[in-house]
Amino acid sequence: MPNTILAGAQWGDEGKGKIIDFLTDEADIVVRSQGGNNAGHTIVIGGEKYVLHLIPSGILRKSKICVIGNGVVIDPVSLVGEIEGLRKRGVAVGKNLLISDAAHLVLPYHRALDGRREALKGKGKIGTTKRGIGPAYGDKVARIGLRMCDLVDPEVFSKKLAIRIRENNIVLKSLGAPALNGKAILKDYLAAADVLRPFVTNTVVYLHKALKSGKQLLFEGAQGTFLDIDHGTYPYVTSSNTTAGGACTGSGVPPHRVGRVLGVMKAYTTRVGEGPLPSEDKGITDALHAMGREFGATTGRPRRCGWFDAVATRYAAMVNGIDEIAITNLDGLDAVSAIRVCIAYQLDGKKIEFPPTDPGALARCTPVYIELPGWNKPTDKARKFSDLPPRARDYVNKLAGLTGAKLTIVSIGPARAQTIRL
Ligand code: GDP
Ligand code: IMO
Ligand code: MG
Repeated sequence: MPNTILAGAQWGDEGKGKIIDFLTDEADIVVRSQGGNNAGHTIVIGGEKYVLHLIPSGILRKSKICVIGNGVVIDPVSLVGEIEGLRKRGVAVGKNLLISDAAHLVLPYHRALDGRREALKGKGKIGTTKRGIGPAYGDKVARIGLRMCDLVDPEVFSKKLAIRIRENNIVLKSLGAPALNGKAILKDYLAAADVLRPFVTNTVVYLHKALKSGKQLLFEGAQGTFLDIDHGTYPYVTSSNTTAGGACTGSGVPPHRVGRVLGVMKAYTTRVGEGPLPSEDKGITDALHAMGREFGATTGRPRRCGWFDAVATRYAAMVNGIDEIAITNLDGLDAVSAIRVCIAYQLDGKKIEFPPTDPGALARCTPVYIELPGWNKPTDKARKFSDLPPRARDYVNKLAGLTGAKLTIVSIGPARAQTIRL
């Protein structure tokens, strides 16, 4: 397998965790390079469901190494909870996990600021996961962040934390939020540091040694293209580069060592949180929710759903350099008799082929649809492409054609076995 970046081609929750789990057989190391515990990646193995937030999805496979790279923002207390949760379920977490010493920390004041700023925005809120992701990346860029290398040195950490608490308490109070107790935070974080210390290392050096010895890397993107801080529907985005380039900066692996970019997309569209979603549709949202599908893996919020948006995926293919695509959740459309696909937008009387940058303009876009006949048959038992009903095959081939990339994986259920390789 060439070193592969797996990126979400829509608004997150495309089924990246499931596809990573499927591909991990062929990789040696799974790397997270951006985002934090705002991510929720679901993997179903033997009827058991796991939702991973910070730990790469490769952790569930014995003999695979998982790396949390420098570009990730880590809430140490939450990470310890995740490690303990996995161990309780019999998943080994030890020498198979490495954490970058350069990764930035999420601190309680980040979460408090995230929540308070969202509350102050009222109707104009982003709809964040309230995990403190935006404020943590903000501190990183402002060069006032604390990192894993600080956390593992109690003396350094306590000094730096005290300075940050002082400033953040002034800000929190000015925003009408209660001040935080620095002592309690220090205690919790030093306890987490004791658990995490053995995992912390220079992951850039580790990854380069691994590359030299011929190991294969699989980059597990978090979020999706339209949540990217540069390329997404700003300001309704997350605070990291979710597109393929983020995998390189967030891990220290240079672009020329990447051999393939795999874009993951659902057979329809979903979004959780606020912001424009041109192909949103109440009918399909209600139908999917009635099936018990499309509730957030991190926050439990109902996801907004719509028809497949080829304007968006075409753009995603361009920005990420997608060579291959995996289409997931095809089975979600099994009972839909007429399926719509958005092939262009109509904006102020003009037909456009690419999403406009301004979120106001994107919100004014109305989709231009084509309609395809449904297959009205269950697909979840298909194991080969030829097992799929002809109309389902036509549908996924159409989506790949409109996106402009080669279709290599189709997923028809949450389990490993429900994955078809073309
Ligand atoms: P991620 O964030 O991209 O890893 O995706 P999430 O785990 O947040 O959401 C995807 C949801 O779809 C999860 O509940 C998965 O178990 C589920 N899933 C993934 N692929 C399929 C599929 O092909 N069919 C069905 N029915 N569920 C799927
Ligand atoms: P995975 O990796 C879907 C969304 C939030 C909100 C916006 C900003 O599971 O695909 P943040 O907390 O990051 O500041 O929120 O981004 N969001 C996601 N939506 N999947 C995710 O991750 C997401 N991570 C953040 O809902 O709209
Ligand atoms: Mg998710």
